[in-house]
Amino acid sequence: MKEIKVLFVCLGNICRSPAAEGILKHLAKKDPHLNVTISSRGLGHWHVGSDADIRIREASAARGYQLTSKAQQFTYADFDQFDYILAADHEILDHLKRNARTDEHKSKIYLMTHFSKHYKGQEVPDPYYGGADGFEHVLDILEGSCDGLLKHIRTLKHK
Ligand code: 4NP
Repeated sequence: MKEIKVLFVCLGNICRSPAAEGILKHLAKKDPHLNVTISSRGLGHWHVGSDADIRIREASAARGYQLTSKAQQFTYADFDQFDYILAADHEILDHLKRNARTDEHKSKIYLMTHFSKHYKGQEVPDPYYGGADGFEHVLDILEGSCDGLLKHIRTLKHK
């Protein structure tokens, strides 16, 4: 199977996109036929080099996902580097679309929930200033979204 490169993008790269990265890596590891590279970025630079937020790391670990990423900022080169660029919410999506200079780059950009059966079209809400419920809600949405994305990627090997 051709290698598929997936990038998750949120604002700080310490909550939503690291969780998406950890969940998709966990699911992809179970399928040896898949050839998927997975990473995440933030639009902002504030947390570059930091571990994921302790609240999302603990909530993720309780579901069996280890988040090991260090925050990185999105750069223009990522449009070339990745095949799927998945935005946490409409603000991130719009920012990426505005900054993509070619139709090819624009065609790689989707909402994170795009391939989800139950959450398609919904945003992954920013949990940073909220309570514990917000982090659980983020994980619920991302589990469904990553499951749907992997199902989509599996259909690509026939193309
Ligand atoms: P994330 O959450 O975009 O899911 O990583 C946030 C983390 C930090 C900030 C905002 C959102 N912040 O403003 O520092």
